[in-house]
Amino acid sequence: MPRSSTAYLEQRLERIPRVGLAHLPTPLEPLPRLTAELGGPRLWVKREDCTGLGFGGNKLRKLDYVLSEALAAGADTLVSGGVVQSNSLRQVAAAAAKLGLACHLVVYEGRVAAPSPDYHDQGNALLNRLFGAQLHKQPWTGERNAAIEALAAELAAQGRKPFVVPYGVSNGRGALAYASTIIEIARQSAAAGFTPGAVVHGSGSGGTQAGLVLGARAALSRTRILGIDIDAEPDRVQADVLRYGEEAAALLQIPFEPADVEVVAGHADPAYGVPQAATLEAIRLAGRLEALVLDPVYSGKGLAGLIALIRAGRWRANEDVVFLHSGGGPALFAYREVLEL
Ligand SMILES: Cc1ncc(COP(=O)(O)O)c(C=O)c1O
Repeated sequence: MPRSSTAYLEQRLERIPRVGLAHLPTPLEPLPRLTAELGGPRLWVKREDCTGLGFGGNKLRKLDYVLSEALAAGADTLVSGGVVQSNSLRQVAAAAAKLGLACHLVVYEGRVAAPSPDYHDQGNALLNRLFGAQLHKQPWTGERNAAIEALAAELAAQGRKPFVVPYGVSNGRGALAYASTIIEIARQSAAAGFTPGAVVHGSGSGGTQAGLVLGARAALSRTRILGIDIDAEPDRVQADVLRYGEEAAALLQIPFEPADVEVVAGHADPAYGVPQAATLEAIRLAGRLEALVLDPVYSGKGLAGLIALIRAGRWRANEDVVFLHSGGGPALFAYREVLEL
């Protein structure tokens, strides 16, 4: 079997166990009305918002691989952390409920100034409670994983068997999950008769981009992966994509090429979690023209970045570009006032 092919990548991934929580494969759909509005290239959407459990999103694909370790270790409790409207926390809470595990979540307060009175109670925050997670408030310090580790140590001292899910479900195992998305895109785009010039998505903790980059080198080598920095920290995002890419490559024993990593800056200002005019335009266009539900923190900024690149002439009208919709829809309800809807 050639060492760079879809079947080869699939064979490497099959050696890593996964739980099977996510609904896969997710659809790849054309976006004809958004394409016409923007005057090309031909746009497609990879529906990673349709992974199913608990309103879905990109973390479930990662959790499928990461949580197989938790089950193998006999864990009885999942521990993770994120901001008040974290999609990652909501998906960890959903996975715990489905697997019958307890769930303790560090909720970092203060990273985002509440954009609406409902911010602490709506959207993902409401769903965390619905799924039965226990929430532990902590002030945001910029250090992502220390408070999660400390909470896990506390729970272990109480006799529980905690398993730490890192911030954003990003580590080597979480990242390699996104190589599996490349297999799906390769097959779906071939069936539809095209090769994507690029896959574009919002990049934050870096695991999604790391896996896409790794997978594309193995199975979709003419496709560029563009991660739109949504954190207003492009250098940190770039460093984390490199780190998780190397870790995932070691687990799969396939090559990772640092030069493949392209993080696009300039679409996250003024700060993480604060939408700008271009974000709101992207959310409204996707909703009005294609009935896609984007969010103000991740997928809205991701599409805003893609629209800016299209308007700057990055692709010809006869090229095909895939927007990877990573989810986040529930956060929309915590931002109603900002959206003016
Ligand atoms: C909706 C959504 N999109 C994109 C991302 C970014 O993915 P990653 O953290 O793997 O870079 C996240 C997670 O933080 C997310 O919740």
